[in-house]
Amino acid sequence: MQAIVLVGGEGTRLRPLTESVPKPALTLVDRPFLAYMVEWLGTHGVTEAVLACGFLPDQLREALGEGRHKGVKLTYVTEPDRRGTAGAIRFAAEALGDRLEDRFLALNGDVLTDLDLTRVQQAHARSGARATLGLYEVEDSSAYGLVECAPSGEVLDFTEKTGEPVPGRISAGAYVLEREVLDLIPAGVECSIEREVFPQLIGAGLYAELLAGYWMDIGTPDRYLQATWDILEGAVETAVRPTAPGVFVGDSCNVAASARIDEHTVVAPGCTIGAAAEVTGSVLLDGCEIGAGARVRGSILAPGAAVESGAEVIDKMVGANERVLAA
Ligand code: GDD
Ligand code: MG
Repeated sequence: MQAIVLVGGEGTRLRPLTESVPKPALTLVDRPFLAYMVEWLGTHGVTEAVLACGFLPDQLREALGEGRHKGVKLTYVTEPDRRGTAGAIRFAAEALGDRLEDRFLALNGDVLTDLDLTRVQQAHARSGARATLGLYEVEDSSAYGLVECAPSGEVLDFTEKTGEPVPGRISAGAYVLEREVLDLIPAGVECSIEREVFPQLIGAGLYAELLAGYWMDIGTPDRYLQATWDILEGAVETAVRPTAPGVFVGDSCNVAASARIDEHTVVAPGCTIGAAAEVTGSVLLDGCEIGAGARVRGSILAPGAAVESGAEVIDKMVGANERVLAA
């Protein structure tokens, strides 16, 4: 099975973390965020993923590498201008040319999930749909695509971002598509699959399948931290193995024996933590330096950030190579 993964968003709500690194390349515990998606796809029969990039494509390439990632062949395509979700799918499909199979997956690349994608593929094959959406139940559907279905799974209504904080079944951003759906997407222009394509498919072969499991759109610092703790606690199925309960410390770190690293902490490779420093509920990305007696709590530090001896960082995001001075 082939998959087109949309990774063209800018991740503006995670700045300054995403100033120099596109969100999909941002480290989450011990690997780039997008690696979780590719590994998840691999466990559901995907052998080739086309990454539809917009923003900083080279860094994405650097983060995941060329060739294969855990058995999934990776191809990168970059749109020449903004195409929107449907336009990007069409552009990526055209890049595959004749190699594109008649049935393929399309995914939003900004979610961490272990939902049963195999089940969506099976439902799609059973109903003979032209497109099948994976659905997820949430308490607040306002910021997502809200979907109403008949008991048969046929979609009766799709409303993108109602703005109303009501519970409901939302599109999880994971679709099985028949190749013919590409004909509904105009070539070379911006087009939204949610606002322009799905509405046309209602009553014309649009189905959905409700899924259970873990699903999170990681768009904000709070959700980035929550996803980190969920991975460390095993609330979502991933290949990550914590180094201690709720904690991950990478290779080549220099942590003083008297430093305290509490549960819910990630220390990426190459960090230094000085004597009697305290790190709690925080993520230190590669090569951060925490001075002696410093306190870091509820914060995310981008690669190369430094906290001076005795300084405090509480509920903050610190940019790459920034230095936090003691008061
Ligand atoms: N290549 C490319 N080009 N990718 C794009 C483009 C584009 O022009 N525009 C958006 N994307 C990517 C984003 O990077 C993201 O991975 C995905 O497409 C969805 O875009 P978002 O901007 O994150 O949309 P959203 O989160 O507000 O809503 C979408 O996702 C929800 C689930 O998370 C919709 O699909 C909703 O219906 C859905 O419920
Ligand atoms: Mg999103």
